[in-house]
Amino acid sequence: MNTSQSIIKHDCSFDAETLRHHFGQDVLKGLSKPQKTIPSKYIYDEQGSELFCKIMDLPEYYLTDCETEVLSSNREAIDNLIGSDNFNLIELGAGDGAKTRILLEYLVDSGREFQYCPIDISESAVVDLAERFNKDLSDLEINGLVTDYFEGLNWLSDQGETNNLILFLGSNIGNFSPPEAVNFLKHLRRSINTGDHLLIGFDLKKEVEVMLKAYDDDQGVTEEFNTNLLARINRELGGEFELENFSYKVKWDAVSNAIKSYQVSTCEQHVNISTLNRSFAFEKSEPIHTESSHKFTLDQISDLANEAGFKVVEHFLDDRGYFVDSLWKSS
Ligand code: AVJ
Repeated sequence: MNTSQSIIKHDCSFDAETLRHHFGQDVLKGLSKPQKTIPSKYIYDEQGSELFCKIMDLPEYYLTDCETEVLSSNREAIDNLIGSDNFNLIELGAGDGAKTRILLEYLVDSGREFQYCPIDISESAVVDLAERFNKDLSDLEINGLVTDYFEGLNWLSDQGETNNLILFLGSNIGNFSPPEAVNFLKHLRRSINTGDHLLIGFDLKKEVEVMLKAYDDDQGVTEEFNTNLLARINRELGGEFELENFSYKVKWDAVSNAIKSYQVSTCEQHVNISTLNRSFAFEKSEPIHTESSHKFTLDQISDLANEAGFKVVEHFLDDRGYFVDSLWKSS
């Protein structure tokens, strides 16, 4: 038993003050647009990440169960397809690790030699994950990285010739616009070696009612999660959003194939944000776009793989055909 564990923090550009400054600039930019919008990545502070964990347990949020099923049913096939050499298992956006554990346990039990590198912007997410896995998977070597996806990719490109398996699970790619997704995957491709693998989760297009319910659950957890964006502006930027003057709305956008989420102003109002020295005017019924969750077809996924410099090895679907973890090889 020779396990080791380390957490690397990219502290220079990710200290709290710099992050807050970027947050403020992005809020200023987004709320100054004719169609107000705020990047969904800012939902995930500590409160937001906790609420997302609750979302993953909701009956309406089918994505988690589907992906759990996909990974449980196909871990042996995945293990066989990625080859027999040593590798780095790199996870982008580590989350709570419940789904990753399914794969990790299998790989450890079958004696594979690899190090696990979870990359997440949330320090507590990486530390908690490393602690939990270190306890139950004592033979696993863990080297966590606290940074954003792009810095994580830069770090990856310096990792030399070792084979890599990248995990990008949970349909995290769905929050990118289509051009952002292509750019991100091209950047990822440039950061790894030819022959490396990517296991990437996509939520598939399905009945609109099912998709809408997943983002508008009966307990209101998703509403609270989304509203955390405004609450966080209040906490960190001196915002004066009256949360009861906004209501959460979701709709299916058939043109962009996405569930779109909004905070809609229920009255005419002005909202001051003191650290920005600005006040923003809202008309009654005016929306702030807060998130897009894109849904895909298998053809779109294959096109995306090819465009970014990958070949699809296999699409792994759940029984209902709701979700796919697609295994790609860099070509
Ligand atoms: C973490 C981006 C996969 O879009 O389904 C869940 C975030 N938003 N419920 C998604 C989310 C509302 C989630 N991703």
